[in-house]
Amino acid sequence: MNKFSAVTEATAPGKIILFGEHAVVYGRPAIAAPISQLRAKAIITYSSSNACYIVAPDLNRHDRLQDLPPDDALALAARQVLDAAHIAQPPDVTIYVSSQIPIASGMGSGAAIAAAIIRALAMHLNRPDLQTNERVSALTYEVEKIHHGTPSGIDNTVVAYEQPIWFVRQLPQNQIEPFTVATPLRFVVADTGVPSSTKIAVGDVRRQYEAQPATFTEIFDACGRIAQTARLAIETGNITQIGQLMTENHGWLQKMTVSSPELDSLVEAALAAGALGAKLSGAGRGGNMIALVADEAMETAVRTALHHAGARSTLTTILQ
Ligand code: MEV
Repeated sequence: MNKFSAVTEATAPGKIILFGEHAVVYGRPAIAAPISQLRAKAIITYSSSNACYIVAPDLNRHDRLQDLPPDDALALAARQVLDAAHIAQPPDVTIYVSSQIPIASGMGSGAAIAAAIIRALAMHLNRPDLQTNERVSALTYEVEKIHHGTPSGIDNTVVAYEQPIWFVRQLPQNQIEPFTVATPLRFVVADTGVPSSTKIAVGDVRRQYEAQPATFTEIFDACGRIAQTARLAIETGNITQIGQLMTENHGWLQKMTVSSPELDSLVEAALAAGALGAKLSGAGRGGNMIALVADEAMETAVRTALHHAGARSTLTTILQ
């Protein structure tokens, strides 16, 4: 084999949170699903220069790994694998990174990019033990910590496992259960075009929780109960109830102050156009909202309404 032509490639999907964002940070259950049509990709090629490079043209990045600071997310993803493999000297490779997942949109772009780098580098190093979903998720979690201090672990889990998951943050081990979807669920995802900072939103919720523990405990409990009921509704195909629970969950997220005028008006527009339910998805304050639709006709009506209400873009994803 010509060593300069060898290529290793791995990808990871974006994600949506169906139920339980924010409350999941406080140990309540949540449900997330991958968006397989939007992916981050890492390609590794041997390099003729004596260094490991990270190249991300979309981010205008072309750096030597050794020059990057400890809090650089792309470098940290690569270093996680090298450390886990006990490799002190990085290989002479170029890691090309690209992503179709909009940044700061609540769709897990940071987690997906990290997971793609981690999986590709583990493959390149021929370390199957570092390529399991569990290890990719755990190593991605370490990178997630620099996006915000106290990630629940749900984003890295769903992008690494690429399955709908039921997730509970707990010690000594998080509860991670892939589960069945009885009837395919059609979601319209709409982007407010407003950047969403997970770190800021999670930090604000933390401050409010500390100032008003009783109120926020009640809010988190309500979100946890909704996720619990929603899982059963998803497993039994009760789509009317799933929709109602989404809208109810949005109300609690408003009380947490993580919605925004843009998110609220997209939720209202989707519901007015006939969606079965709608809510923000992810950290909120901006980013994306999701609406559950019954069929293609409803999808068209809802997507049109969302564009009229100011959505920057919409896409449809089917969960099955
Ligand atoms: C972000 O996708 C989900 C949050 O609940 C944060 C987390 O779980 O780490 C807002």
